[in-house]
Amino acid sequence: MTKKKDAKPYRSAHSYAKNDKDGFIHRSWMKSEGLPDDVFDGRPVIGICNTWSELTPCNAHLREIAEYVKRGVWEAGGLPLEFPVMSTGESQMRPTAMLFRNLVSMDVEESIRGNPMDGVVLLGGCDKTTPAQLMGAASVDLPTMVISSGPMLNGKHCGTDIGSGTDVWKFSEDVRAGNMSIEEFMQAESGMSRTPGTCMTMGSASTFACVVEAMGLSLPFNGTIPAVDARRKTMSHLTGRRIVDLVKEDRKLSAYLTRPAMENAIRVLAAIGGSTNAVIHLQAIAGRMGIDLCLDDFDQLTKDIPLLVDIQPSGKYLMEDFHYAGGVPYVMQTLGKFLDQKIETVSGQTVGEITALAEGYNDDVLHSMQSPVKENAGIWVLRGNLCPKGAIIKPSAASDGLLTHEAKAVVFENIEDLKARIDDPELDVDENSILVLKGCGPKGYPGMPEVANMPLPQKILEKGVRDMVRISDARMSGTAFGTVILHVSPETEIGGPLSFVENGDMIRLDGPARTLDVLISEEELARRTSNWQGPETAPKYDRGYYKLYIDHVLQADEGADLDFLVGKSGSIVTRESH
Ligand code: FES
Repeated sequence: MTKKKDAKPYRSAHSYAKNDKDGFIHRSWMKSEGLPDDVFDGRPVIGICNTWSELTPCNAHLREIAEYVKRGVWEAGGLPLEFPVMSTGESQMRPTAMLFRNLVSMDVEESIRGNPMDGVVLLGGCDKTTPAQLMGAASVDLPTMVISSGPMLNGKHCGTDIGSGTDVWKFSEDVRAGNMSIEEFMQAESGMSRTPGTCMTMGSASTFACVVEAMGLSLPFNGTIPAVDARRKTMSHLTGRRIVDLVKEDRKLSAYLTRPAMENAIRVLAAIGGSTNAVIHLQAIAGRMGIDLCLDDFDQLTKDIPLLVDIQPSGKYLMEDFHYAGGVPYVMQTLGKFLDQKIETVSGQTVGEITALAEGYNDDVLHSMQSPVKENAGIWVLRGNLCPKGAIIKPSAASDGLLTHEAKAVVFENIEDLKARIDDPELDVDENSILVLKGCGPKGYPGMPEVANMPLPQKILEKGVRDMVRISDARMSGTAFGTVILHVSPETEIGGPLSFVENGDMIRLDGPARTLDVLISEEELARRTSNWQGPETAPKYDRGYYKLYIDHVLQADEGADLDFLVGKSGSIVTRESH
């Protein structure tokens, strides 16, 4: 249904429709870009929110993608206006890109609200960019669509496919174990990242691109079309057309970003072996939208969902293979009754209408419910005296034999301590030990880095062992694998129980029972709690964004947003200074 002639003018009319000083100023300066007078005739203004940056290589082609969106917007009778926001390159930013996710979200929110636009297309891809954009856009709530960068083509090395991140961890351990030369390691560098686009394993970026598609916030196949495939340009062109329709129909983001849509996406997350980072991002987005979504929902919603996509790091194939095999629509067709097929998507089709057209072309990549890649998928949420507010583990990326395990802790007080001692031949550790890393939570690091998949000690690697149980308050890259318990809440920086664990304490993980405990008496735990003085060597920050973040960041189990950003302010701006 398009807006009627006598309907309220679009939001941008406040700036562009007035025949006074304010209207003069808004239009005149825009005409310096070569825009003719008649584009300010009341048509929908579409913002193209771009996280392009040469320091975010995964998003470095998004200026070109924006041009295809503009084609579609012009064609549909809109006015496209591209604008930059802060970009976070996962492989470049220090101390960790996650520290800045909330800052990007503030930039996105205020850029959308403060400018004369009626709808917005979000161009993102590298890990934190898409969640940050959705958080910001949710707090304004205009008609919104997402276009992801798309994955790189498969990496190539010595005649085999290699996967972003996943093979870096493997090669690095092989070098440390003496099974790969440093020369070959360096050679693999060029073959791994050979086109624009995001990591082509099921890392956090590909996970979130698929999650966006599963929530119905993009056109079909947004999650998987390779970055360099012409079909991504076509999809971008069509997105440009479609966002104009959404503005005319006044279909805001909140019409699509609903609890049932998020439930669909969480089930898809399990079936694709998606990144644990999606847990924290979805909770933050839900918080902005006012949707009630807690940590336990992830366990509850995914417990019957097996792993259907054989893709790294949980399996062997890569995103290009996933796309050619049928992509997200086919996975959603396979999940069938586990999904709400009636949900409307921004495409104008329901989930059911999209999945009815889906086809699968390779059952070695995309498995059936009867013959899944693995029964244990999803996100397990653990509780116990080590993690009263929860911790998570991704069983599809873990070793089945370690999902129930009891052993002595080997404790590292912070990341520097880990780096200094992990390869010490005198380290009192064996392959059954449980590695514990402290000081890597949201406040403690700060920014909750992806270090939970800590490297194994060299002397253990030399025995041929490739996995151990590891526990921390950090996050883990979506490209990583192992029996890694992460997001332990509360974090050690604020005195969560993990901070009281000492070398030699016995720890018991019972994955199927969803428990994680240190086996010391309540009296001993109380003694250690009362003696706790705080972390010994945490860096201190007393100014700028770091301070704002540390003072206000929520814990991992609540999405690690800043407390004052939860919720939304809408799109109204009450004052005009021109
Ligand atoms: Fe950007 Fe992996 S580093 S998506």
